Amino acid sequence: MSLTKRDLVTVDDLSNKEIESIFSLADQMSDTLYEQSEVCKGKIMASLFFEPSTRTRLSFEAAMHRLGGNVITAMDVKATSLAKGESIADMARVIGSYADIMVIRHPWEGAAKVAAEYAGIPVINAGDGGHEHPTQTLCDLFSLKKEKGAIDGLNIALCGDLKYGRTIHSLTYALARMGASIIFCPGDGYEIPDYVVKKLTEEYGGELRKIAANDVPSLAGVVSGDKAELDALYLTPSTPHQPALLTDIGMRVDLKQGVDALYVTRLQKERTNTSDDDVKKSYPVIDKKTLKGKEFKETLVMHPLPRVDELAYEVDSDPRSIYFKQAARGVPVRMALISMLLGAKNIEMPDVEAGKASPPIYQREFGARCHNPNCAAVHEARYIDPKFAIVNFKPLTLRCVYCERETQPKYMASTKWHQGTIENKLYHNVQSHLLAKIDTSNMLFFESEEDAKAHGFKPSRFAEKGKKGGTDQ
Ligand code: NCD
Repeated sequence: MSLTKRDLVTVDDLSNKEIESIFSLADQMSDTLYEQSEVCKGKIMASLFFEPSTRTRLSFEAAMHRLGGNVITAMDVKATSLAKGESIADMARVIGSYADIMVIRHPWEGAAKVAAEYAGIPVINAGDGGHEHPTQTLCDLFSLKKEKGAIDGLNIALCGDLKYGRTIHSLTYALARMGASIIFCPGDGYEIPDYVVKKLTEEYGGELRKIAANDVPSLAGVVSGDKAELDALYLTPSTPHQPALLTDIGMRVDLKQGVDALYVTRLQKERTNTSDDDVKKSYPVIDKKTLKGKEFKETLVMHPLPRVDELAYEVDSDPRSIYFKQAARGVPVRMALISMLLGAKNIEMPDVEAGKASPPIYQREFGARCHNPNCAAVHEARYIDPKFAIVNFKPLTLRCVYCERETQPKYMASTKWHQGTIENKLYHNVQSHLLAKIDTSNMLFFESEEDAKAHGFKPSRFAEKGKKGGTDQ
């Protein structure tokens, strides 16, 4: 197993063992930062940042310079041909012929995945809208591991904007997979999205439980207003994502002892319309007072940065605050990642044992579509057909492979059943027993009866839910 020529679009692109191997190389490199200048000599990294960035862009570029490679850069959509209407696909294809590796940050969810499909060189997602930010997660996990020794068994509280915070989404997946327990402390209205919780519970075998805030007394103050309950995500060993890696996980939460880390995030103002005053009323703020409780004696304070008002400056000198160290570690971690994706460094890794089988993929140019207006595939619909993983048959649930939002189309048909006979070109309700009879490769899904009719299908007696001869629910 090797990382050469692979992409890093979501944190799921790496197994736990691969993450460990990146960390061991990052460790070696941080001890010998000035001796790495031959590792990527002659290689070019394209650094494309179409949203503001300080740490991520500069640490990627510093990493490539330390490795002896070169950097070409584009930082503003307005200054590129994207502003002239060029597609991400065309841009990626062209840059793929100029550079050896591409790092891309873009406001659309799934943009890095689109780029990866066309670039022909390794693509690293440096943040795609409010979706994911997997390399920030590598820095976060690396820091946790350095400070606490291991991830497995830690209790991590995630505070702030859990809805739009892409660092939060990637981090929750990785923490759950690695056996940590997660406590969500959102600002009012910035709760962790359902699609993230669903993925955590359905794919990682996590279990979401409400715990009373007084189980973690000081967090009761962090959680805004009169909320008496927090959500804790517990990981159970029942349906692990990667069985080989999760054998040893049980319920290890002992919240009375506090949490191992408070991961604080700013409100992602650029993705929301809320006024400052509305937010201030209920947004969790971490300050000296929060950290006074004895259950926080060993608690690390982390932040992906930039901070605004959610983390008081008075906490900076506290030895539990590690956010500047966390940012500094971005360079060796990204050096390790770049050199492994370029095949300049390889660490022998045993093949990951097979995890759960991947869900079937559904892709059609018409019918069911993604409803997320910020999805890259929706923006680039002129050349990308809607593409979903069928994550559940009952109820039928499709997950967009680009932005991971889910949709539940109501009607279905088969590409095969009409066999050229127009009378047999029928559509049915997805709750009908017929869903189980259609081969997944022949399935057609429609949003509405109008949608099905517009494509020449007529209702079958199984089209209407509840009608005699209709659905068998
Ligand atoms: C984060 C991001 O861009 O998502 N910043 C970063 O990369 N370190 C967090 C944020 O902007 O709030």
